[in-house]
Amino acid sequence: MSSIYTGTKQLKNGVEMPRFGLGVYKMTDPEQTVEAITYALRNGYRAIDTAAIYENEAETGEAIRMSGLDRSELFITSKVWNTDQGYDQTLRAFETSLKKLGLDYLDLYLTHWPMPGTFADTYRAIERLYDEKLIRVPGVSNHHIHHLEELAVTANVAPMVNQVELHPLLTQVPLRDYCLDHGIAVTSWSPLARGQLLDNTVLTEIGEAHGKTAAQVIIRWHLQHDLIVIPKSVTPERILENSQVGDFQLTDEEMVKIDGLNRNERTGTDPDTIGR
Ligand SMILES: NC(=O)c1ccc[n+]([C@@H]2O[C@H](COP(=O)([O-])OP(=O)(O)OC[C@H]3O[C@@H](n4cnc5c(N)ncnc54)[C@H](OP(=O)(O)O)[C@@H]3O)[C@@H](O)[C@H]2O)c1
Repeated sequence: MSSIYTGTKQLKNGVEMPRFGLGVYKMTDPEQTVEAITYALRNGYRAIDTAAIYENEAETGEAIRMSGLDRSELFITSKVWNTDQGYDQTLRAFETSLKKLGLDYLDLYLTHWPMPGTFADTYRAIERLYDEKLIRVPGVSNHHIHHLEELAVTANVAPMVNQVELHPLLTQVPLRDYCLDHGIAVTSWSPLARGQLLDNTVLTEIGEAHGKTAAQVIIRWHLQHDLIVIPKSVTPERILENSQVGDFQLTDEEMVKIDGLNRNERTGTDPDTIGR
């Protein structure tokens, strides 16, 4: 636990968001989910990334309560699912998420995908939740530059976080540059490309040079690019392994080598095909 990464990123409104957290997508077995999150919290994780569609907000809440940690020490994210988008629907979906989590506010609430026709209204509702101090940070997920530009026309408060698929096979440089220019922090989802890259020799060789695994090298690559990173694992050894990334530094040359793995290749859905 000595080298768990505890860095934070200051968001546009001054909130400090942990740069490292636990993703809980596909944690479907309730008992295993509570155990994995409990284990992570006991070992220094402070940020949990869930969503209504993951159907594990209740288990996330249970693990939070069992941890005994003060609410203010935690950073909890959830997302409004596509079928609940629109202004009133989003307000209702948020209330349901909050109830399932057993919390009275969320740190970050995101539009899960930019549903054509409704994502701007969804974000308006997220702005209202922010005004009412029910969330500390308003954000979005899976927004391309053109979605962010569309929101910029109507939003009073720009999203402060955009959570997108991002890993060495999909480095998203233009979107990262746009977000940097507009003060939007970027969170990488599927940061390990769902395990696809873990036997890549570029990564394993860099790992060997530092006494680290390929997964740790990838996580460190995200952090050194100033990205927020939320790897998912239900496996205790991996939960620990992924967090032990505070005690080494990739060289500029190693960073460039990893950047060179980019193939603009998604493991998940292209946001432009969602809801069409
Ligand atoms: N906003 C969105 O639309 C969106 C979409 C997808 C994901 N997300 C978020 O991003 C999080 C992470 O993405 P993800 O779950 O898709 O993929 P990921 O974190 O890239 O990869 C998870 C997979 O890698 C394995 N793994 C984790 N650490 C490992 C290690 N050290 N060594 C070997 N294998 C390891 C896990 O296995 P085990 O669990 O079996 O250990 C799991 O199969 C999600 O949980 C979710 O919170 C958001």
